[in-house]
Amino acid sequence: MNITVNGKKLEVSGQRLLIEELREAGYDIPSLCYAADARHEPSCMVCMVRNEATDQMLPSCAIYPSEGMCIDATSDEVTSLRRMSLELLLSDHRADCEAPCTLVCPAGIDVAKVISYYDEGRLAEAKALLLSNLSPPTLPCATCKATCEKACRRNTVDQSVSIREIIQEVAQTPPPASPSRLCMAASQSPAPPSPSKLGRFSETEKERLKQIYSQPSRCLHCACEGAAKCKLREWATKAGIKASPFGKSSSLPVKEQQHIIGRLWYEPAKCIRCGLCVYNSNDGFTFLRRGFDMQIVILEQSKKNVDERLAELCPTGALYIL
Ligand code: SF4
Ligand code: SF4
Ligand code: SF4
Ligand code: FES
Repeated sequence: MNITVNGKKLEVSGQRLLIEELREAGYDIPSLCYAADARHEPSCMVCMVRNEATDQMLPSCAIYPSEGMCIDATSDEVTSLRRMSLELLLSDHRADCEAPCTLVCPAGIDVAKVISYYDEGRLAEAKALLLSNLSPPTLPCATCKATCEKACRRNTVDQSVSIREIIQEVAQTPPPASPSRLCMAASQSPAPPSPSKLGRFSETEKERLKQIYSQPSRCLHCACEGAAKCKLREWATKAGIKASPFGKSSSLPVKEQQHIIGRLWYEPAKCIRCGLCVYNSNDGFTFLRRGFDMQIVILEQSKKNVDERLAELCPTGALYIL
C-alpha cells in the first residue's frame, strides 16, 4: 500500500503502526506512552501527525496506515502540538533532572555525586571523582564565589548545604589506588540540559525533607536517578524546552521514593501516567481514580508480581534501578 508523507510516496505494509513506518522511513517521531513490543494505550499525545486527507490530528502510535493517507509528519503545526504535550507533561512532573549545584559549578565538578558519595561514607570514591572532574588538578573552591551554594535547592527549605566545606574535606582524603570505572564514566559525560524542576516546597514538605535529609550533609540529593534513560527529558531537550510555560500543577509529594522489589524503586511525582507499567504487569501497578486526580499505585501484596525490567519500559525516571 502507498501513503504520502510530507509530499513523498511511502510504501508500507499496512500491518505496522504508523509511528513504526514513519520511524523506519527516517522520521524522528517522539513517543512516551508507546514502546515497541509492549502493550500500550495512547495517552501522552507527543507522537501527533496530521492526516491532510481528512484534516485530522492523529496519534501515530494508535493508528495503522490506510490507502490514501496523506501525512504531515514535521510541519510547525504538528511539532508545536507535540511540544505543547511535552510542556503539559512537564508541568505535572516534580523533579530535578540534574542537581542545581552540579549545573552551576564553573569548574565542572559533579558536586551532587561527590556529596552523594560523601553521605554514603565512600570518601575515596568521592575524592577520585573530584580529581577526575578537575583539570588542572587544583581545587578552585577557596577562590570561587560558591555559586553552588547559592543555587543549592536546600536553600528553599532552610539553608544551603555547606558544599565548599564538604568538597575541601573530600579533597583532603587519601586518594584511592586507581580511579573507579564509575568515576571515569562520570568525568566523560557533561550534564545535558535540564527541562524539569521541583517547583516550590509547601511548609509540610519542608518539614518532611528536613527529617528525611538530615545526616551528614543535609543534601536533598536532587538529581534524578532515572535521568540517563528518561525519554521525557530526551524529547523535551530535542524540542528545546528549558522549562514548562504552564508552571507546576502536581501536588504529589516531591522525592517520595517507594521501594518496589529488588533494585526497583518508584517515585510517583515523576510519573506521567502513561500506563505502560500497568498494561505490562499482571496484577502489579494499577490506576487509582480518574481524570486529573489519577495516580499509578501498587498494593503491597502486588509488588511480587513486577520485575526490574519495568524500569526500562518506563519513559521517565519514575521507575528506576538503584
Ligand atoms: S541539596 Fe544537594 S544536590 Fe541539591 S543543590 Fe544542594 S548540594 Fe546539590
Ligand atoms: S524523570 Fe526525566 S524529566 Fe523527570 S527529572 Fe528525571 S530525568 Fe528529568
Ligand atoms: S511509572 Fe508507569 S505510568 Fe508512570 S511513567 Fe512510568 S511506566 Fe508510565
Ligand atoms: S506515544 Fe502516541 S500517544 Fe503517546
